Amino acid sequence: MSTPDATPASPQPPLRVAIVGASGYAGGEALRIALGHPHLEVVQVTSERFAGEPVGNVHPNLRGVTRLRFEPLADLREVDVLIAGLPHGTFAGQLERFEDHADVLIDLSSDMRLQDPERYERTYGAPHPAPDRLVEFVYAMPERNRNRLVGAKRIAGAGCIATATQLAIAPFLKTPILAKHDVIADAKIGSSAAGASPSRASHHPERAGALRSYAPVGHRHEPEISQAFDDRMAIHLSATAVERVRGILVTAHLFVQDGTSEQDVLMALRDAYDDEPFVRLVLARKGIHRVPDPRILDGSNYADLGFALDRDSGRLVMLAAIDNLVKGTAGHAIQSLNIAAGFDETAGLTFPGLHP
Ligand SMILES: NC(=O)c1ccc[n+]([C@@H]2O[C@H](COP(=O)([O-])OP(=O)(O)OC[C@H]3O[C@@H](n4cnc5c(N)ncnc54)[C@H](OP(=O)(O)O)[C@@H]3O)[C@@H](O)[C@H]2O)c1
Repeated sequence: MSTPDATPASPQPPLRVAIVGASGYAGGEALRIALGHPHLEVVQVTSERFAGEPVGNVHPNLRGVTRLRFEPLADLREVDVLIAGLPHGTFAGQLERFEDHADVLIDLSSDMRLQDPERYERTYGAPHPAPDRLVEFVYAMPERNRNRLVGAKRIAGAGCIATATQLAIAPFLKTPILAKHDVIADAKIGSSAAGASPSRASHHPERAGALRSYAPVGHRHEPEISQAFDDRMAIHLSATAVERVRGILVTAHLFVQDGTSEQDVLMALRDAYDDEPFVRLVLARKGIHRVPDPRILDGSNYADLGFALDRDSGRLVMLAAIDNLVKGTAGHAIQSLNIAAGFDETAGLTFPGLHP
């Protein structure tokens, strides 16, 4: 028999979410994840080009999953959480307007990542539109920033290559393993990283079969990674476009002290990541799956890390694979929101990827 004491507490209502720039690849992926999230209700999605059209016209994977239609940004309503997947430079210019509509703001662009306005100007070639506000944003890197994300109301999504590179390097800064605080990181990246808007570089005859080094030096994520390591590490990043739609593989070359063993490397990795829900160590020494491969991570929030050590030369090669649109963008944003809002950190994010 039920008594007043036995009445279950009413469950918390879901957080109401708007996704602006939801027709894009990053916004679309945030939408896909949020629609399957137990504590989020997506109430509005915006697109200027597709205003009035059902979501499924643009993201056919979401046909039948939602009845939402795109609305123009001018019709933005009040929500609990606003996730912005807008081109670089668009979010910061409208920050005050967005905060009139939402308690929690998550920006997936690079607008709010760099904390120093001068570094921003050097990197992006223009003054920051809201330099005084940069300090309010917490960088969405749960593995390195979990405590600061608790209760955060302003969250800056991390760069996709920056995410994979940091995961590969971070464990070794806490140990005496490194002989030099220099890393050479080579990132291979699929075409979805460039977004849904067509360009000459994304035109099929130019992009198909690509193996094109588009940023041998000067990649914009270099300062972001340096900042994340408090400038204690010199980052030398090169990026190459490859024949995939999703996925990043970062190969990071580190230089370790004489006598460093595989066991030392493994201990540093285990120490950093054994309790991390979305970092997997790939430690098999035989077979075709002995190295991280972005191919099996499509749609997944996992980051797979592996390594090889050349003991003679002291070169440690770290490999990090992610899906740029999930662990590299929308996934780490939702993981950060889970932490900020006090949800289970893995809520909505447990899809393991596909094989074969
Ligand atoms: N793609 C990735 O792997 C990735 C990874 C990490 C971070 N990011 C960042 O996420 C952001 C979005 O990237 P994306 O790849 O999703 O780009 P995208 O596919 O080109 O999408 C851009 C979105 O922004 C909207 N938009 C464009 N200009 C606008 C404006 N002036 N006002 C309002 N809405 C506007 C577009 O809507 P319409 O339908 O109206 O054109 C579209 O929904 C970028 O800042 C990017 O750097 C992307």
